Amino acid sequence: MDAILEALSSELRRLKAAGVKTVAVSPESLAALRRLAEAAPRRDSHVAPVAGTARSIGVDSAGPVDRGRASAVVTPPLAQAVVPAPTPAPTRRSEPAEPPVAPKFPSPQPFSIPAGTKAERMTALRERILADPVCRQQVRPGKKLVVGTGSLEAKLFFCGEAPGAEEETQGEPFVGPAGQLLTRMIQAMGVRREDVYIGNIMNWRPDLPTAEGQEQMGNRPPTPEELQYCLPFLRAQLEIVAPDVIVALGSTAAQGLLGAGSFKALGEVRGRWSEFAGKPVMVTYHPSYILRNGSNRSKRAIWEDLLLVMERVGLAISEKQRGFFLDRT
Ligand code: URA
Repeated sequence: MDAILEALSSELRRLKAAGVKTVAVSPESLAALRRLAEAAPRRDSHVAPVAGTARSIGVDSAGPVDRGRASAVVTPPLAQAVVPAPTPAPTRRSEPAEPPVAPKFPSPQPFSIPAGTKAERMTALRERILADPVCRQQVRPGKKLVVGTGSLEAKLFFCGEAPGAEEETQGEPFVGPAGQLLTRMIQAMGVRREDVYIGNIMNWRPDLPTAEGQEQMGNRPPTPEELQYCLPFLRAQLEIVAPDVIVALGSTAAQGLLGAGSFKALGEVRGRWSEFAGKPVMVTYHPSYILRNGSNRSKRAIWEDLLLVMERVGLAISEKQRGFFLDRT
């Protein structure tokens, strides 16, 4: 049990050192952590017990956390509770001081895709990604890397964050609940899912500490290094598909495309045109935001972004479509 808490603590320190400010944790994981912490023998340790109410440990499940495949987000208070202060705790004299955490993640390796038809190039790219040793290393046994899918002639390229549980099991993007909602959003635009292209910034599900033999519970946002590693693969997909418009779903996708630190709150960039690789980008909320906050107001906010996209690519818009989600019930 100690080993699990230590592993979690060390992972959180690694993430913090890598610049990660929030970690998504599902309610199930949180409950499991509480149980672990409560069962752990009290000892002088740098690991603060995870206990108390969600609020008191800084868990915030409210607000437009755009990726939100997890239903709660551990905000800095928990990270602070678990991450040691810079001065080492003087409780265990015999233990060597912890080495400084040096985040190590390989830089992306240059690659080229042979000339050919779109289908040939996409097949080559897919093979390249699926064989990539760094990508493969990130995937738990029995799980899959995920590459985008859809029409290679698509005008619309939807870009999400990272595979979740269902996606890494099936090896397909957006096949879980958020994906089903995305399909309905696309259909509301008068388009079939198979006529757009759907991909992610990340090709693997970012890992969380998980007891051996257990399924990973919850998700976390990718670190900047992970994002940078996968970005060339997204670029290559965009280059092959050459869509008219990219729709960035949520803050991680937006950060990957517009640049980390290019905005603080998603509201600053959503609903406006930006650019990536010479293509117009419309940033909107992630569908999982609607899964957590299904008010007509939130749906309308996404819908207005999608209306702008429809106008841009010349899709016909009926009066009925213009009025979707206007009744604020
Ligand atoms: N959320 C994402 O961002 N991507 C997926 O593929 C699934 C859920």
